[in-house]
Amino acid sequence: MSEIVELKYGENVYKLPVITGTEDEKAINIAKLRDETGLITLDTGYKNTGATSSSITFLDGEKGILHYRGYPIDQLAEHADFLEVAYLLIYGELPNKEQFDSFVNKIKKHTLIHENTKQFITSYPANAHPMGILASAVCSLSSFYPESLNPYAEKEDEDLTIVRLIAKLPTLIAWIYKMSKGHPFNYPVNKLDYCSNFLHMMFSMPTEEYHIEPVVVEALNKLLILHADHEQNCSASTVRMVGSSKANLYASIAAGICALWGPLHGGANQEVLEMLEKIKADGGDTKKWIAKAKDKNDNFRLMGFGHRVYKNFDPRAKIIKAACDHVLAKLGIHDPILDIAKELEHAALTDDYFIERKLYPNVDFYSGIIYKAMNIPVEMFTVMFALGRLPGWIAQWKEMNENKEPIGRPRQVYVGKTNRDYVPMAKR
Ligand code: CMC
Repeated sequence: MSEIVELKYGENVYKLPVITGTEDEKAINIAKLRDETGLITLDTGYKNTGATSSSITFLDGEKGILHYRGYPIDQLAEHADFLEVAYLLIYGELPNKEQFDSFVNKIKKHTLIHENTKQFITSYPANAHPMGILASAVCSLSSFYPESLNPYAEKEDEDLTIVRLIAKLPTLIAWIYKMSKGHPFNYPVNKLDYCSNFLHMMFSMPTEEYHIEPVVVEALNKLLILHADHEQNCSASTVRMVGSSKANLYASIAAGICALWGPLHGGANQEVLEMLEKIKADGGDTKKWIAKAKDKNDNFRLMGFGHRVYKNFDPRAKIIKAACDHVLAKLGIHDPILDIAKELEHAALTDDYFIERKLYPNVDFYSGIIYKAMNIPVEMFTVMFALGRLPGWIAQWKEMNENKEPIGRPRQVYVGKTNRDYVPMAKR
């Protein structure tokens, strides 16, 4: 028998159905609440509100579990290719060899971007934040592919938009980077795999061949997989919300990029490295910075610590920490900021303030150190997060459409002035 929750309001008792997910997650279905009781719920930041039923990603913050379509993140990060994971997230199953080859070949066919895009990118100042350029560039792709504007497009057209996005994002990102350096743009080389091609476009110079280090490729592949989806977070919910108005996929992804930009979301990886550099420049006294993070009169937060959902450990952080040690050892890099990171981690994990609030290192704590070792500049870190998150956003957008979800439209409790008459300006 299905469970119910009883809500007593005034003299009446209302029965609200409880729905149970496949991992035994329970939710009160309040779809008819307002019709039946006249009430709405209030939950700023959606801390207790499920916005959808989804079959893409499962995470259990208490147990530190993260699954994409049922597959544990550690297995995918260890064995899979990023494009294999992209296929899994978007189409629901791991591809067989034929499906994978066909997906990869389609992506390779679309890695070029329209030459006019060069002018678009070079019109920005060299110090423009790459997230701003990327969001605009992704949105502007819709102008080159007007068929993407049709919200009721055939599956083939939708698949083409998906392939174009995955294929072109690395090229766009690399060109944005090259523009910031004033260097010539590199074209994609399709014989290379996704990660190697990206590294080539970022770092090859006409004057010098760039040697693609396998350990860097492996680490990049892992980082992209770890960032590929994270269920209903700020940017994924933004993508679904924008897409629910039937806005095209390019526009919806551009909105997701904007949402990711903030320091409390994807922007945290840039903030982590800037914080570590600042602590180093300040003499490396981690105790002083821990005290600042605990001081309620100080706005400073320990960036890369804490998570809305993970209250035990972030399984991605565990994998990234190991990858970080591996990459630095293989490349022979000794980075003093890694020592500071480890000291902060140790202090925070043994300090009551952090223990009581369940604040653990999150995915962004170590990813920046790996990106730094790859020579990716700090301002590009959040863009790297966007590259990894793209398949997740696409999967969320696709699922929202397939579920035929209605346009997102929250309600509010109005607390402003009540009805009053207009006063002419002279009398105010
Ligand atoms: N440093 C110091 N104190 C913190 C921190 C931190 N990083 N994070 C949370 N707290 C404290 C906060 O002051 C509050 O204390 P009190 O209960 O005394 O008022 C308590 O912990 C709960 O914090 P909250 O802001 O209510 O928690 P939240 O679930 O709303 O926020 C968070 C989660 C990730 C925004 C927050 O922990 C934070 O700002 N962390 C630093 C930024 C960061 O690393 N963000 C990346 C998140 S992972 C990437 C992603 O998936 O987007």
